Amino acid sequence: MIRSLSLFTAVTTMALLVGCENRTGPMQSMDTGTSSEDTADVTTAVCKLEPIGESGVEGSLEFKQDGETVIITGTVTGLEPGKHGFHVHQSGDLSDKQAGKSTGGHFNPDNNPHGKPSDEERHVGDLGNIQANDQGVAEVNIEDTVISLNGPKSIVGRAIVIHAGEDQFTQPTGDAGARVAFGVIE
Ligand code: CU
Ligand code: ZN
Repeated sequence: MIRSLSLFTAVTTMALLVGCENRTGPMQSMDTGTSSEDTADVTTAVCKLEPIGESGVEGSLEFKQDGETVIITGTVTGLEPGKHGFHVHQSGDLSDKQAGKSTGGHFNPDNNPHGKPSDEERHVGDLGNIQANDQGVAEVNIEDTVISLNGPKSIVGRAIVIHAGEDQFTQPTGDAGARVAFGVIE
């Protein structure tokens, strides 16, 4: 293993040296495939929300990374009119179809208290509330600079969870009540 690694290093180094002498030559492509920094940033994601239990709540969301900002747009239907807690939860595990507990708690990599989206200290997943109209439809339009589609605060692979009640920003998780819809961000 060590021998093959050092052989690999030697070959790569030689390739880079050759590449430096001839930057337009075909050898230059050698270093693009081997560096992890070449992995393209994620710029978009989607989330299809499905009902938890018999809630009848469903919807779909789109996420767009624009610099430091993530823009979330979409529509959620089947809600009770009013405000509903809207969070990124830790795990994209949707196995608990009856209560949604499989998604775990709010995504909180910094071990902060629960908060409003505008709070300096908050769970990364604290996106506040969405508002449903009299028909039970919520048009989502959120911009947030704490969540990301890349790096340590990436929400990709985690879950959006919508609650029966309003996030009241109380500790530890806002008292937003039961989970009524969830989906994986992917
Ligand atoms: Cu939640
Ligand atoms: Zn929280």
